Amino acid sequence: MDLFRQRITELRKQINEANYSYYVLDNPTISDAEYDRLMRELQNLEESNPELKTSDSPTQRVGANPLTEFGTITHRVPLLSLDNAMSKAELTEFIKRVQKALPEKNVEFVAEPKIDGLAVELVYENGLFVKGSTRGDGITGEEITQNLKTIRSIPLRLNDDKIPAPALLEVRGEVYMDRRDFEKLNEQQLSASKPAFANPRNSAAGSLRQLDSRITARRPLNIWCYSLGACKGIAFDSHYEFLEILPKWGFRVNPLIQLCKSTDELLEYYRHIEEIRDSISYDIDGVVFKVNSIIQQEELGIKSRSPRWAIAGKFKAQQEITQILEIEASVGRTGAITPVAHLAPVNVGGVVVSNATLHNQDEIDRKDIRLGDWVVIQRAGDVIPQVVKVITERRDGTEQKYQIPDECPFCGCHVIRPEGEAKHRCQNINCPAQLKGSIQHFVSKRAINIDGLGDKLIEQMVDSGLIKNVADLYFLKAEQIAALERMAKKSAQNVIDAIENSRRTTLARLIHALGIRNVGEHIGKLLERHFGNLDKLISASFDELNNIEGVGPIVAQSIIDFFNEQKNRQTIDRLIEGGVAIQTTKVADFGQLPLAGKTFVFTGTLTKFTRDEAKEMVEKLGGKASSSVSKNTDYVVIGENAGSKADKAKNLAVVILTESDFLKLIES
Ligand code: IVH
Repeated sequence: MDLFRQRITELRKQINEANYSYYVLDNPTISDAEYDRLMRELQNLEESNPELKTSDSPTQRVGANPLTEFGTITHRVPLLSLDNAMSKAELTEFIKRVQKALPEKNVEFVAEPKIDGLAVELVYENGLFVKGSTRGDGITGEEITQNLKTIRSIPLRLNDDKIPAPALLEVRGEVYMDRRDFEKLNEQQLSASKPAFANPRNSAAGSLRQLDSRITARRPLNIWCYSLGACKGIAFDSHYEFLEILPKWGFRVNPLIQLCKSTDELLEYYRHIEEIRDSISYDIDGVVFKVNSIIQQEELGIKSRSPRWAIAGKFKAQQEITQILEIEASVGRTGAITPVAHLAPVNVGGVVVSNATLHNQDEIDRKDIRLGDWVVIQRAGDVIPQVVKVITERRDGTEQKYQIPDECPFCGCHVIRPEGEAKHRCQNINCPAQLKGSIQHFVSKRAINIDGLGDKLIEQMVDSGLIKNVADLYFLKAEQIAALERMAKKSAQNVIDAIENSRRTTLARLIHALGIRNVGEHIGKLLERHFGNLDKLISASFDELNNIEGVGPIVAQSIIDFFNEQKNRQTIDRLIEGGVAIQTTKVADFGQLPLAGKTFVFTGTLTKFTRDEAKEMVEKLGGKASSSVSKNTDYVVIGENAGSKADKAKNLAVVILTESDFLKLIES
């Protein structure tokens, strides 16, 4: 038990340090794989020793059972709001006012970016994170402790190596989402037919206010800490001193924060931050100036809801009004169609905007966006501008509703909206708009695997008209490739050789390579196992597909749609004509294969084969490879330095094999 306790303490320390380096210092010290390994080891140890679980363990960040509602919390010290200054002149006025109220005193200010997120409060008792809440109306907020625990940059226990943890500490900050993460999340929302969030702020708010914290745990939230609430057992002379101590305890403090000693410095800060606004990865909507000295803050005092010692300097709006002149269906690399509004060009916060994404048909219908409409548009840094809403009052009756066309504007092939999806899609894999993407996928390692055919070369081949569909690859001549820019005889021959090597392939690889919607590597293998040859797959009915274990109606329909498209059938014929030969596999019932029903786990550093190869060997023989050891595991194969999984296998009396044992088993 003591050994377990010791290992658990060690793992928590390592994981906390890794979190701190990654999320607070922005300087990763270990790889993602190593992090996952440590985390899994800790999870396993805590699972088998539940009495050693604690509320500050990093495993607590995955979320807890859903709540039916949030509780309310009364803040010990109200969370104030800030007065706004809309211009340099108003900011100058504020600075003068402060200096006048503190005559003959040297007043320093702390200048900070104003983060466009959600204010929260984190309460620590004797160093332990005990409660977290939203700002609410400033007096009372909602208790969202479990949700806040999922944010990895929030310490669950203060690091007291340098500064002892005070008896009570309330830290306030802004929870936000990076723009890129917001865009990714929106793509996921849209492809799951869920409404997109309007901006990173809304998506941070929506993510934080989930009753099911396991959902919050999957959202990429982060925090910048910037102010103090109640506190016992420590006192600060200045705000800046407080901000300098925060990271020592483990909190994340914005690196753009600056101590300023004069009006000029403050105004220069405002100008500079507005200038770099778009190049930072998260949304800010202004700057905040705070009097640095705590004594001076107290002297200045507060008005009803906002302090006299601080102000927000707001930036110009990033929203404007303009008219939609045209709506175009643009086709992406995977055939997904995105309607794009062409706008009367308008300057939004210093950048001329002439296009905005309309996402998909549902978004158009929900917002009732019509051709000719006057709309409010919004941009935030590098996020593609969006239509916020239609100004219906400005309609004159000439506006036209918009519907994504049934035919692809590029190739004229069918456009369909697959069941359960938000996006319409062009069904033709040779559509010029999606050709490069589909070739990249086709040649990739886990698909048909043509080594050395990189993105640049594919681009040149498509742009020069050398290949118009994936099958053309198999008719290429070395001279044609050598004639391309930066290619020579030898490198061209290497490509030809790689293409030659890819001719002998498996049905599973070919299916995966074709890029059928919703059909990846795994389904490819299932289909190979079931049909054994391509003709049977092509002529399969919906019911037959739908009845295959692991294939559902959405996948079945995607396969039917794909083979219904004449051009896709022609491509397959030409691939075969070009020499692509499928090694036939015996159609075998799952149950007849030698490893049917057996589950393998590979752990440690494998030296005789890669993990992928091992997986492929097991699956070929009807078995399954899994990543965690449980009572359902049949064999654990251990490489070098195998850790907790090997121990767990011993505890569960699972058969343990060395790599050589495994190879012998496979061969037999
Ligand atoms: S200080 C009395 N600092 O702005 C000081 N607030 O309008 C109160 N905010 O509710 C807050 N970045 O959500 C402070 N660096 C920053 C901030 C910041 C964003 C938000 C916060 C607050 C609102 C006040």
